[in-house]
Amino acid sequence: MAKRKRSRTATLERAPISDPPVRPGLVGPRRRVPRHIPRPPYARTGEPGPAVSAPVRSAAEIAAMRRAGQMAAEVLLFAGRLVAPGVTTERIDAEVHEEIVRRGAYPSPLNYRGYPKSVCTSVNEVICHGIPDSRPLADGDIVNIDVTVYLDGVHGDTSVTFEVGEVDDHSRLLVRETRAAMYLGIEAVRDGAPVCAIGQAIETHARTHRLGVVREFIGHGVGTEFHSGLQIPHYYDRRHTTPLTTGMSFTIEPMLTLGAPDLYVWDDQWTAVTADQRRSAQFEHTLLCTGDGMEIFTRTPSGEGAAEVYARD
Ligand code: MF3
Ligand code: CO
Ligand code: CO
Repeated sequence: MAKRKRSRTATLERAPISDPPVRPGLVGPRRRVPRHIPRPPYARTGEPGPAVSAPVRSAAEIAAMRRAGQMAAEVLLFAGRLVAPGVTTERIDAEVHEEIVRRGAYPSPLNYRGYPKSVCTSVNEVICHGIPDSRPLADGDIVNIDVTVYLDGVHGDTSVTFEVGEVDDHSRLLVRETRAAMYLGIEAVRDGAPVCAIGQAIETHARTHRLGVVREFIGHGVGTEFHSGLQIPHYYDRRHTTPLTTGMSFTIEPMLTLGAPDLYVWDDQWTAVTADQRRSAQFEHTLLCTGDGMEIFTRTPSGEGAAEVYARD
């Protein structure tokens, strides 16, 4: 009977390449943020400067990160309601921007290293940092929406890959197992564990399902800075021995692929796509390493998150 014991992944044919491929659309003008909203230091110049913040947060910063994380989670739940065939990613950007400023926060991506929009929307074979544009979502697409808000001096960063209408079996598997991989990485977080425990948990799960793990983009320290010095790879390398310690705040945001994880970046200098045009999915939470494990910041007070609310299976 051993022969029958093949995983669901192995029974799927090799994933098709994206047809038609995602192409750059038209990008609308930069959106405005009302004067009264406090901005991160790069908002004017586009330059975040060198990462200088400590990896460990103060009690006051942790309290602020709970508020920023909760707001990011709520905005991502809001964004999920917009996802439907025919809706442009530009429209999603507009609505998310309005929702964030209405809540008194700054949309962290806006002008971060010159990024032109308020949210990232990454469709199908786009791995991350897709720029919202005039392309309408199509039935069968998958789209990652990555929301970051700057509130009370800190950032909350979270993303989900949504299914648009009915998607094929490969995409469903990819989305489901990327979500699972993120949570396995999160469960590996504990005081004293080496940072490579996270990548080990994620890569082991990806291999089980014959999915690729993107190496060029990694999780990051986050707090008063959008991206601080702490690096969280999603692949395993035993040389990554930095210990996780109580009070560290960072993201876990694996990008998994149906084909090879190799990528290139469009001429816009942002949009990262798989070289083989096969699809990629990503999920992201911002969390805190605590004395007894971890705390996920990017959830509502009742523990809700878009990753679960919009899960199809
Ligand atoms: N939110 C992304 C992350 O998870 C970063 C986006 S940077 C931007 O780290 F400039 F593209 F917005
Ligand atoms: Co992030
Ligand atoms: Co993000």
